[in-house]
Amino acid sequence: MAATLPATLLAVLALPQPPALPRSFSVRISSSDSSSQLHQLGLHPLAASSPFFANSSIMSGPPAATFFFDNSSTDGTLRQRINQSYGLPSTAWTLYTPSNASMRTYAQLADDCRPLPVNFSAFLAFDLSWVPLSTFAGEVVLGPSMKANRFVYSDTRTLNNYTLVTTLHGQLLELYSTFIGKLPGTGSVSPTTKHTFGGLVEGPVPASLFDIPVQGCFEKVPPCPNGDVVLMDLYLAHPHQFTYLDNEDTADAKGDVTFLCPDILQPGSSAFNLYDQVSRWQVEIDTHWGQYEQCNGYPGLCFGLEDYFVGRQIPYGTKKVPLSGQCTPNTDSGSWFSHTLGGKCLDGQRPSEGTCTWRPVKREKTIALKCLVEDVGMLTACKADILAAGGLPGPPFTKWIYNTSLKVFQDAFASENPDQGGCPNVALSPSEES
Ligand SMILES: *[C@@H]1O[C@H](CO)[C@@H](O)[C@H](O)[C@H]1NC(C)=O
Ligand SMILES: *[C@@H]1O[C@H](CO)[C@@H](O)[C@H](O)[C@H]1NC(C)=O
Ligand SMILES: *[C@@H]1O[C@H](CO)[C@@H](O)[C@H](O)[C@H]1NC(C)=O
Ligand SMILES: *[C@@H]1O[C@H](CO)[C@@H](O)[C@H](O)[C@H]1NC(C)=O
Ligand SMILES: *[C@@H]1O[C@H](CO)[C@@H](O)[C@H](O)[C@H]1NC(C)=O
Ligand SMILES: *[C@@H]1O[C@H](CO)[C@@H](O)[C@H](O)[C@H]1NC(C)=O
Ligand SMILES: *[C@@H]1O[C@H](CO)[C@@H](O)[C@H](O)[C@H]1NC(C)=O
Repeated sequence: MAATLPATLLAVLALPQPPALPRSFSVRISSSDSSSQLHQLGLHPLAASSPFFANSSIMSGPPAATFFFDNSSTDGTLRQRINQSYGLPSTAWTLYTPSNASMRTYAQLADDCRPLPVNFSAFLAFDLSWVPLSTFAGEVVLGPSMKANRFVYSDTRTLNNYTLVTTLHGQLLELYSTFIGKLPGTGSVSPTTKHTFGGLVEGPVPASLFDIPVQGCFEKVPPCPNGDVVLMDLYLAHPHQFTYLDNEDTADAKGDVTFLCPDILQPGSSAFNLYDQVSRWQVEIDTHWGQYEQCNGYPGLCFGLEDYFVGRQIPYGTKKVPLSGQCTPNTDSGSWFSHTLGGKCLDGQRPSEGTCTWRPVKREKTIALKCLVEDVGMLTACKADILAAGGLPGPPFTKWIYNTSLKVFQDAFASENPDQGGCPNVALSPSEES
């Protein structure tokens, strides 16, 4: 008998290799389950058939995107860009430098670019830099005579588990991504999104597609030129055990209703945000507003460069006014605010002295979400407002439709008496007072 290689080594040699991606290409991507992304936005695909969400253009077709990939640059940086016709953000870039294994992501909805933390860009960016590192995980049968190869990779940078399905010749067919991270202090979500590739076009993509806006992504957006120091009533929905404003986002009454109404209407929203109370705070603020930071989790993680001024924008962001409403009054739509820790006044400091930008004066009232949503009728009011408007407004979401809900929300805070639509202040143990 002739000498042969051991069978196990032969099997290893015969393993299919990860696909070699073209140097540059564009491809259409449709996502049949983008629940996690829509989740954050307050729009859940399960709700697509409901009259509340049906009118929303975000739900009007399958989520789709164009993905651009360029691995031909002279400095070796792999540049990727996704343009999405659904969800937020509308555009995201992922840059990967193999020499130092450095990865960076940036995103924007309107003219409001922000860097994203690589380990929490799961729902927002899109990345194929790991493909050469993936390993063969067996064949799959996709149809009567269609076999495909499956490659897997667990990415510790982006906290994603990936499964890539290609033809036996290495053409991209499907990608499953599962976010394996968890926002601190919130429920664990491991949603899997299935992406399907179509219409691959090989060849150079315009270099300008990778021009990431400097303002917001690389340089802080300057604060608004005019400002004052004022006392404001701001609202925050939060889990009962976390009652601070540090690195958290708040809203005025209109802004909070615009957040709460779609969020309480969608199935399973509590898994992501886990809030069960709403608090009204009095906050002293320097109104030289900065760029709004997207802060999530407890302790909060804030996305963006602004670390001193209180951020402001129109709920969900918009292209209709400059900077998504950072320096406009937003009286019709309401505003969202961000309270990055770097601007918080220390004991004894005041925003008027220019050493800090916000001071929590007191938590005026905390009510149970259940009281607001069920007992005094916020859920019913939200449904009524959205149905009267013919459905949830599509992007940019800035149309104000919540007069009925706003009254329910304000009444809940105005009195302790259920007969007047009030919700009782929730008593807190001293240890929970911050
Ligand atoms: C992608 O989005 C950018 C910014 O909105 C736009 O300028 C560009 O035309 C879009 N490209 C495609 C192919 O949709
Ligand atoms: C990695 O390379 C990128 C692009 O050249 C650069 O911006 C970044 O600072 C580098 N990171 C480190 C840690 O050297
Ligand atoms: C990008 O190009 C480099 C150099 O040719 C190659 O080693 C790497 O595998 C490519 N990356 C992808 C994701 O195709
Ligand atoms: C992700 O992949 C790793 C490595 O294969 C595995 O240990 C882990 O259980 C996976 N996590 C999820 C949530 O699928
Ligand atoms: C991402 O990394 C930062 C900095 O290392 C860390 O504070 C944060 O908890 C991480 N986020 C997640 C979702 O793992
Ligand atoms: C819903 O669609 C209808 C018909 O296109 C339109 O008249 C209405 O203004 C839309 N409602 C909202 C809230 O955008
Ligand atoms: C909401 O109330 C304001 C002020 O009373 C009014 O101007 C506006 O038209 C109302 N909007 C809707 C959608 O009913």
